[in-house]
Amino acid sequence: MKIISSIEELRDQMRGQLRTAFVPTMGNLHEGHLSLMRLAKRHGDPVVASIFVNRLQFGPNEDFDKYPRTFAADVEKLEKEGVYVLFAPTEKDLYPEPQEFRIRPPDDLGNTLEGEFRPGFFTGVTTVVMKLFSCVQPRVAVFGKKDYQQLMIIRNMAKQFALPTDIIAAETFRADDGLALSSRNMYLSPEERAEAPRLYRTLTQVAEEVRNGQRNIAALEQEAMAQLRTNGWQPDYISIRKRSNLQMVTEAELVQGEELVVLAAAKLGITRLIDNLEI
Ligand code: PAF
Repeated sequence: MKIISSIEELRDQMRGQLRTAFVPTMGNLHEGHLSLMRLAKRHGDPVVASIFVNRLQFGPNEDFDKYPRTFAADVEKLEKEGVYVLFAPTEKDLYPEPQEFRIRPPDDLGNTLEGEFRPGFFTGVTTVVMKLFSCVQPRVAVFGKKDYQQLMIIRNMAKQFALPTDIIAAETFRADDGLALSSRNMYLSPEERAEAPRLYRTLTQVAEEVRNGQRNIAALEQEAMAQLRTNGWQPDYISIRKRSNLQMVTEAELVQGEELVVLAAAKLGITRLIDNLEI
């Protein structure tokens, strides 16, 4: 595996590659990321991964400095997966001057759910993803459904800018007890780790009730959040949305069988977990 940090060197290396499959990451790789690499391999060749902890998507009170950086272990894992190039730019490589041009998602998609609790987050994500795409020039790029809103926003961005990159969605990789794998799980104490699967169980229960014909969406969301609170969580949201655009669903759309997804973000101790489930 070639490890490349400069944009120029990456361009030289990738010249003439028309079927590149790309997996952008912020490192601290776990089985969830590796499953994205495997999916990438099925959709293109060669596979390029990136590791870049993107300052633009962290708020002033978020964990940019503390974000786990485990480069040597990450390299070993990517090598085992047969990744061809790891693009690992420094901040100077990727942002040699202040990144003043930004990609701002539309408010209805970018300022709801995660965007409401993490202002500017998606602008940081779309800006870096656009820049990484410009460097790697992939034919396809893989994003996990774990970050459902991110996936939807990037998919819409690729469509509206007519990017030559197909966005592939990967299923969420879960531990045996249902907890979605995430770099942030490492912050959980043993007691919190034992409690954490409740988030997925709650989503499963909400999904089940919707499937069984429960139409009072607001009540369902409130009940689910109350259940989490009772068990020591601080939920930011549990929200049932339309899969197509992540907007709220009307009663009429519910009756017509609109495709839905339930999304959640909640803090357990100091750790903020997100998860979602298609209904
Ligand atoms: O999902 C992530 O790890 C990041 O948001 C991404 C897509 C690599 C952009 O920094």
